[in-house]
Amino acid sequence: MHQTYDITKTYRENYDAGPQFAGPPPVIPETPMKEFLGLPVHSRIGIAAGLLLNSKWIHGYARHGFDILTYKTVRSAYRPCYDLPNWVFVEDDGKNDGPVYVTEQFPEDPTRISSAVCFGMPSMAPEVWKADVRVAKDGLDDGQILIVSVVATPNAGATAEEVAADFAQCAAWAAESGADIVEANFSCPNVCTPEGTIYQDTKLSRFIASKIRDAIADKPLLFKVGHFLSNESLRDFLCAMNGIVSGITLVNGISRPVLHRDGRAAFGEQYRTAGVLGRAIHEPSVQNVRTAAEIIQSESLNLAIAAVGGVSQPADMTDFLDAGADVVLLGSSPMYLPGLAVEAKRQRALC
Ligand SMILES: Cc1cc2nc3c(=O)[nH]c(=O)nc-3n(C[C@H](O)[C@H](O)[C@H](O)COP(=O)(O)O)c2cc1C
Repeated sequence: MHQTYDITKTYRENYDAGPQFAGPPPVIPETPMKEFLGLPVHSRIGIAAGLLLNSKWIHGYARHGFDILTYKTVRSAYRPCYDLPNWVFVEDDGKNDGPVYVTEQFPEDPTRISSAVCFGMPSMAPEVWKADVRVAKDGLDDGQILIVSVVATPNAGATAEEVAADFAQCAAWAAESGADIVEANFSCPNVCTPEGTIYQDTKLSRFIASKIRDAIADKPLLFKVGHFLSNESLRDFLCAMNGIVSGITLVNGISRPVLHRDGRAAFGEQYRTAGVLGRAIHEPSVQNVRTAAEIIQSESLNLAIAAVGGVSQPADMTDFLDAGADVVLLGSSPMYLPGLAVEAKRQRALC
């Protein structure tokens, strides 16, 4: 199976090399224009924050027919990546929770693949990523849009004001550099510091949201969240965000122990649990989106939904649209299935 990201190499090596596609860019089927958050797009198919490390990755996947492209989360200061491994393929033994196990054997059907990541949200220094976001934006066609994902980098003991100011600074830089949409990452399953779970604190989330909103005026703003512990907490969160953010991206990878069969932690003892991606999380992700869409409707909220989680075939995209999503973003599968947008466009899924 060809892979565009080499998991045996470091984040930095993959950053420098860009995506390694097996052949030249395909012919992209024509599709009628639509809108997302008031912006014209060729399709509702995109890539979530993660695989697109820089402008080389954004342009490579734009040429493979993905129209909503998210620049991997950036920070207000340089942050190195965790040591290898950062990405492993896993088996979940058919269960929805509990540990998943590292495997070197891929299922015959690549749409069944699950994986797990643990990068620690590395970031280039702002002067590097700001210039590169501009390059990324300038290389897109009409009908293709750029989301830039940002996160705060709080010191131990930082106040809510400091966290919010850091988020707002990154968001303002992303907007100035050419982002069509800013995404604030309120959830990361692999960082042990508080920026990984902000979405679980509704009051803090609302406070940060309002500071970001002030910093980027009327630029579309998405919040990326993880799994909520209950429907009530999801309802509270959505109601608190309404009127400040434009929509939510849900969900991030689901946190589960990622182990070798002999019980060793795949990413080291410090990161025994990490974000699980792919087939293993599709069903719970669709359920989350369905619940969020029902709440948005019943509470008459004005929030769009960018759905993420385990999409590796056009039918998975349709699951999300039927559940109430506005657009569908793919996280891990475009690494081993880079032709998915073209396949979906041929089948007229999400077009
Ligand atoms: C290589 C990689 C790196 C990721 N890094 C980020 C990140 O920096 N910020 C973020 O919000 N999500 C990150 N994610 C999570 C994805 O955005 C997405 O939520 C997750 O992969 C689930 O989608 P999937 O099941 O389609 O893979 C990353 C995913 C991958 C595959």
